[in-house]
Amino acid sequence: MRIGILTGGGDAPGLNAAIRGVGRRALAHGDTVIGVKNGWGGLIGDGDFMELDRHRFSGILQLGGTMLGSSRTNPMKREGGREDVLRNLGRAELDSLVAIGGDDTLSVAAWLAEHGAPVVGVPKTMDNDLSVTEYCIGFDTAVSRVAEALDRLHTTAASHHRVMVLEVMGRDTGWVALMGGLAGGADLILIPEIAVTLDEVIDRLQRRLRSGSDFSIIVVAEGVEMEGVTDKQVAEGKLDAFGHAQLSKRGVADTLAEVIEARLGHETRTTVLGYTQRGGSPSAYDRIWATRVGVAAYDLVLAKRWGMMPVVRNGTVETAPISEVVRETRRVTPELYELAKVFY
Ligand code: F6P
Repeated sequence: MRIGILTGGGDAPGLNAAIRGVGRRALAHGDTVIGVKNGWGGLIGDGDFMELDRHRFSGILQLGGTMLGSSRTNPMKREGGREDVLRNLGRAELDSLVAIGGDDTLSVAAWLAEHGAPVVGVPKTMDNDLSVTEYCIGFDTAVSRVAEALDRLHTTAASHHRVMVLEVMGRDTGWVALMGGLAGGADLILIPEIAVTLDEVIDRLQRRLRSGSDFSIIVVAEGVEMEGVTDKQVAEGKLDAFGHAQLSKRGVADTLAEVIEARLGHETRTTVLGYTQRGGSPSAYDRIWATRVGVAAYDLVLAKRWGMMPVVRNGTVETAPISEVVRETRRVTPELYELAKVFY
């Protein structure tokens, strides 16, 4: 059998572990493994492939990024894109394709499977916002990065008696902000799912000052909306092929810090964690679970369960239709957010 592997969307630590999981299992089974380069972009035009032998999987477990390259290419939005993908799968004589990605990449995979292509998925997104699955490749590492950053910010914030605002990724959901903030002991966590007013932010900071804490740490997800802060902000830059603007250019943390300093009269600084959240080596947890879902994806290929993907539920690897996993964005619940408020 010839099995293709593709990684699409934003890169995330653990992608190489998943590629290795699929590939090593396939090689052990006597298959030929073909890497599709740069996400769906590698199946557009003439296609872009690389054969992956045993040596290509050596030394990649601990590496961040993706050895196959990635892109946000959306074949559904390109003239002739869907036809290109189907034609290239045939031209490369792929009997199957493992698409590793988040909702954008997986929605293309779901469409392909619905149209008879031999495709299975693997859950990846550091945003952790796919439905059904409790695990997405890259999330654990991103949370650790936020926690580490908060540890560092605590010492400098305390030394200078400042308010620190840390901006983290999270377009529609606040999983990274909430879990990172909990792990790093943030004093206030602002996420897209839960509306918090500017007055409430100021009140929280004033209460801390009154109680003798002369510094505060706020974690804000890049997608947060707040009256008096984000009203005039627009995400700059062109939209990507899936229609997303570059939120880091909105500078929500910067504006929030300015407004806080003006209203509170307390020195306030900003840190934007940006791409360090998803660059570099995966955590041990991401290596292990990416390996598990990668190997499980190969087993789905072997069983010809097209349109399905491994998911994690109740601590074990299960199987779900890709279409179900991408049906809706999984958001932080108010109950979970209450946990953060225990420490306010
Ligand atoms: O992968 C999702 C994500 O991390 C979002 O949280 C963020 O807005 C986006 O990627 C930014 O990535 P890029 O600049 O590569 O599109």
